[in-house]
Amino acid sequence: MYIAGGVELKRYFVAPGRINIIGEHTDYNEGFVMPAAIDKYVLLSIEKNGNGRIHLSSMGREPVSFEESVIEKTGDWSDYLKGIIWILKNKLDAKFGGMDIDIRSSLPEGAGLSSSAALEVALIVALNSVFDLKLSETQLYNYAQEAENDFVGVKCGIMDQFTAVMGRRNKAIFLDTLKMQYEYVPLELGDYTLLVFDSKVHHSLSRGAYNSRREEARKALEILGRSSYREVSMVDLFPNRGKMGDLYYRRALHVVSENMRVLESMKILSNSNFENLGRLLIQSHESLALDYEVTCEETDFIVDTLREMKGVSGARMIGAGFGGSVLALCEKTEEKKIVEVVKTRYKEKFAIDIDCYEVRPSDGAREVEASFPL
Ligand code: GLA
Repeated sequence: MYIAGGVELKRYFVAPGRINIIGEHTDYNEGFVMPAAIDKYVLLSIEKNGNGRIHLSSMGREPVSFEESVIEKTGDWSDYLKGIIWILKNKLDAKFGGMDIDIRSSLPEGAGLSSSAALEVALIVALNSVFDLKLSETQLYNYAQEAENDFVGVKCGIMDQFTAVMGRRNKAIFLDTLKMQYEYVPLELGDYTLLVFDSKVHHSLSRGAYNSRREEARKALEILGRSSYREVSMVDLFPNRGKMGDLYYRRALHVVSENMRVLESMKILSNSNFENLGRLLIQSHESLALDYEVTCEETDFIVDTLREMKGVSGARMIGAGFGGSVLALCEKTEEKKIVEVVKTRYKEKFAIDIDCYEVRPSDGAREVEASFPL
């Protein structure tokens, strides 16, 4: 696959998107999350070119080309890839000598399925392997997050990059983002299935609003006089409501209650009680809507439609929010009907054709053959 008569050929790598079963906007608050990698991927091909220039191309987009020694942010899709090259130069003084990188993807962008982390992780895993950088799994996801935080400028938590590296088939991952300890949680869904409804809306405020939620959550903690959300329980919150003010109180309430829901979900999943898990998904969505205020009319509408339907255990928005996708836990026998009804009602209300697909928990980033089915 790699060496043919001493000539290096193109190599291929994939990185998955992710869903998040529960634990939203908790990762940058040192809390708990329970994501799973999914069977939708970024497929990256890489080939050394020896001319010191990096060429990036991606599915009909304007190609981007630059000297490896001059990496500048341009505010477009290529920043996620440039960020990885930038971080490896900073950390390891890495020199690649130029390369051609092409991207294909089955992962919709702006759908809250973490296509940006998949881009970053596909490249860092590819460079690690092609240039034998000997990075550990921990370095792979930490460097990818740093690239997004410090080069792209989104102060994201660790969940997405972690999942793109560490995902496992048929498993969700329980991750304690404070201790960075994790456990694979079997997701044997039996008669149930996971559906993603992509609202197709991506409100442009998302990047700034994401960073400001992060600041508000931090400020709420400061008012409480604590250094970590792990030192805060519901009992600490209620008496401080006046002191905190409504906004900071609600931000903190979401974080603390969402962490409790993740822990509860762990227990529930150990006995495969999907009806109870569904109830927690609904509660999570309500908390994201009312207290953290990261949902929007479109995702609220999808959840409201779903929760009234037979065969739906629960549903909630996933990812950063402000549009993006809703994850629903449904009975397989009702799937067709559920999809049909949501599609029709959404179209009637917003005049948008919603996308819906079933997702399966999948493995993390890896090298694949050129023929990998996207
Ligand atoms: C985005 C970020 C993650 C996480 C989620 C919200 O996907 O990249 O780190 O904060 O939003 O849970």
